[in-house]
Amino acid sequence: MTLLKAVRGTRDLLPPETELWNRVEATARRVFARYHFGEIRTPIFEDTSLFARSVGEETDIVSKEMYTWEDRARAQSEKSQSLTLRPENTAGVVRAYIEHKLDATGLLQKLFYIGPQFRRERPQKGRYRQFWQIGAEVIGPPSAGSESPLRDAEVLEMLASFLNELGITGWSLALNSVGSSADRPRYIAALREALKDKVPQMCADCQRRAETNPLRVLDCKVPEDQPVIETLPRIADYLDDASKAHFAAVLAALDACGVAYTINPRLVRGLDYYTRTTFEFTHGGLGAQNALLGGGRYDGLSEMLGGPKAPGIGFAMGLDRLVLMLQAAQGEAASALSDAYIAPLSEAQNAAALELARELRRAGLRVELGDGSFRLKKSFEMGNKLARVIVLLGEDEQRSGILTVKDFASGEQKKVARAELVKALRKQEI
Ligand code: HAM
Repeated sequence: MTLLKAVRGTRDLLPPETELWNRVEATARRVFARYHFGEIRTPIFEDTSLFARSVGEETDIVSKEMYTWEDRARAQSEKSQSLTLRPENTAGVVRAYIEHKLDATGLLQKLFYIGPQFRRERPQKGRYRQFWQIGAEVIGPPSAGSESPLRDAEVLEMLASFLNELGITGWSLALNSVGSSADRPRYIAALREALKDKVPQMCADCQRRAETNPLRVLDCKVPEDQPVIETLPRIADYLDDASKAHFAAVLAALDACGVAYTINPRLVRGLDYYTRTTFEFTHGGLGAQNALLGGGRYDGLSEMLGGPKAPGIGFAMGLDRLVLMLQAAQGEAASALSDAYIAPLSEAQNAAALELARELRRAGLRVELGDGSFRLKKSFEMGNKLARVIVLLGEDEQRSGILTVKDFASGEQKKVARAELVKALRKQEI
């Protein structure tokens, strides 16, 4: 029989690695709470058109990488529907914002999420088909200050604090402005003009995109096309005064709080909904897939989905990549030892051993429980792998209430009264 394996591009996360995942998630929750973000959980699959209308038909994500299927109607009253496993979470959050009329509060909505996303990409180190993102969105009516460059700077400052708190150093932040919806038509016209003579020599995707969505030509990864792309007009040269002033104010606020950045005028990001500020944090330690996180402003997204005017800014970090960074920094995480291994010396002591384990666990100690069917040598071998000390519970110990406890590191063996055991283990006196 052929053995079944996890599907290509997916993987199991096992302890002790999952401890590291939990640490990253806990740090995100702690840091985001200081900025008053609340958690949102949206469905893992959505109507396909949500992604086509927000991320964009011509993006790599929508045109090549989505897991989409036709969900058959189960009753005459139902219609079949095209559904897609979410390739990202911003579209779902904005859909929820509109659906729950969150703009009625008149306040900024600050929402974060932690969860799996799905893209049919070519798997390699740091790139999976099911991967996890930790992301956040700040969205609200303009009257709540959602368009202010201060929001952009605050989000970027929070990210810098998060990475520092996690102990990840050596990252770089690249920033750009892709202009507002007012700037976009002039830039697209200039791109079309510049592409006219050049596009016949470019790849098939570029040829199609030059017609349908010229901005996406800038995402092309085909090496032969790169020299041509280098010569194309840059969006930064097509910003109007309002967009330039917005970007300058973001940079000034970052300077004021000491967050270092570089400006990359070619950073357009591969999703259609971006306006004005776009950014990416990269890290050299990640190799080819060096983007730790990415994000930007999407002032028109809510309206693109039929909602109210609700400018926003957000980001998503690759949780798999954050964990890779931490593993590289600290080596493989060793599994923490339990406080005690309880070894019943015969099966007659099994029930009493469970009762003792219950007492210690209730006191908050980490306890492993052996089995009375094990020989003493085996109990010691297992205990040594799992815990700091072994507690022997035989007939004598059960009767007298005086337990035999051995510390594996020092080799020291002691008699401890059962009533004193919790205190002694907590203080690590044994
Ligand atoms: P994105 O740049 O497509 O943006 O993804 C954000 C991050 O997710 C990347 O920087 C990377 O760390 C991680 N990532 C993406 N694809 C993979 C993959 N196949 N395997 C592992 N990690 C991956 C977005 O998704 C936007 N929704 C971000 C955003 C939020 N913009 C505004 N708000």
